[in-house]
Amino acid sequence: MTCDYKKGFADQTKEITVSSLEVEGVIPDWLSGTLVRNGPARFRLEGKTLNHWFDGLAMLHKFDIANGHISYANRFLDTPALRAAKDGKMKYGEFATDPCRSLFKRITQVFTGSTSGANANVSIGKIAKEFVAQTETPLPVAFDVDTLKTIGIVSYSDGLKGNLTTAHPHQDQGDQFNYLLSFGHKSTYNVYRLSDGSKKRQLIGSYSTGRPSYMHSFGLSQQYLILMEFPLVVNPISMLVRGKPFIANYTWKPERGTRFSLVDRQTGEVRYAHTDEAWFGFHHVNAFDNNDHSKIDLDIIVYPDADVVQYFYLNSLLNKRNQEAYPKNELRRFTIDVPAGTVSSRRLVDHSAELPRINYEQCNRKTYRYVYANGIARQGESAFLDTVVKFDLTGDVKEWRQDGQYPGESVFVARPDARSEDDGILLTVVLDSTANNSYLLLLDARDLSEIARASVPQHVPFGFHGAYIRS
Ligand code: CO
Repeated sequence: MTCDYKKGFADQTKEITVSSLEVEGVIPDWLSGTLVRNGPARFRLEGKTLNHWFDGLAMLHKFDIANGHISYANRFLDTPALRAAKDGKMKYGEFATDPCRSLFKRITQVFTGSTSGANANVSIGKIAKEFVAQTETPLPVAFDVDTLKTIGIVSYSDGLKGNLTTAHPHQDQGDQFNYLLSFGHKSTYNVYRLSDGSKKRQLIGSYSTGRPSYMHSFGLSQQYLILMEFPLVVNPISMLVRGKPFIANYTWKPERGTRFSLVDRQTGEVRYAHTDEAWFGFHHVNAFDNNDHSKIDLDIIVYPDADVVQYFYLNSLLNKRNQEAYPKNELRRFTIDVPAGTVSSRRLVDHSAELPRINYEQCNRKTYRYVYANGIARQGESAFLDTVVKFDLTGDVKEWRQDGQYPGESVFVARPDARSEDDGILLTVVLDSTANNSYLLLLDARDLSEIARASVPQHVPFGFHGAYIRS
């Protein structure tokens, strides 16, 4: 097993601007826009390595594509977490690292969010007119897309409160959807809608639970928001007093099975469905209803347990010998019978993958055919995501891979006047572990053939999610 992927977890503290990257191949004339990506770029603070991949300090990366040329710039997100780090301090709790020893401080951090480091290192979104970096604390950080300069934490003009959210809001016809989880003796999921141009979230519906689940994303169908509550659960009260980092408070309780909570997008009414099977996952892929909304198909990449959370600890990722391979997962379709509250499921693809994307503009909450993701070359052997995969849900799998190359999430950009769902380009930042730098790779989404690559003169650490903004 090769372990050269570890360079993807090396700090990148150099902020640079390159007006024209060296390009191999020909950039299509029609491709004109900006790819902005988010991810951690600094994993070492106070002379120590942070605990987890998800803990690193947020950096934005930008590729402007126009007239066959590509420019690049990167900048740290200027947050309280970054400013503390510049003073040589780890001051705020992250996903799996928590320097906070005082009970009082913990309570204020967890329950107000106001003293959070706002290290929004997961994804890129838009609130009103501003682009934002997002994470799972509900503190999106606005930035200027031309300069990558941080504007500041977005204040909503509503009274909705909560401690946790997802960095994966869904979009549908000018609205975005997400939820806020409010911790308490009984914790409450508040599902909301945010209209285009607005900073006022409107509550759609709420429900309470004694043991909230760790969920990184959720599903959206025409009729419902679907929260797939995995049995990785927390007792919020003991979280306050145990002094452990955030995710270390969650425990895997497979005997609980998996609950699906369906919040009606119009009425806010909540229905539930349940399966005795225990599943865990990060990324929903797509969801859609049948004609009378009595059945929902929900596609998600699932693991048989939550061990993958442990796998992403830096201690584990950086110290692997030959024995540990990337945890096995699969793309699975859960079919929910809404009136009956029952769930059946079947495997769509038996090929481990992460960071899935679809042709979202065309296929979100509709039947669809193609999924783009990062896969692993050798099941049971590869230690980290090392291929671009395309799943055709009618059965075919296509791959792009080269020795020593580690691609990140692939963002699909449709060709103007596209003739098919997959008529477009995938934009993927790839770590070249042999050259110790990264490049933006352009693949034809139809067959994953290479169109071009543009070299960045330094490495881009492994990040999470990006967005393509059309010019
Ligand atoms: Co994600």
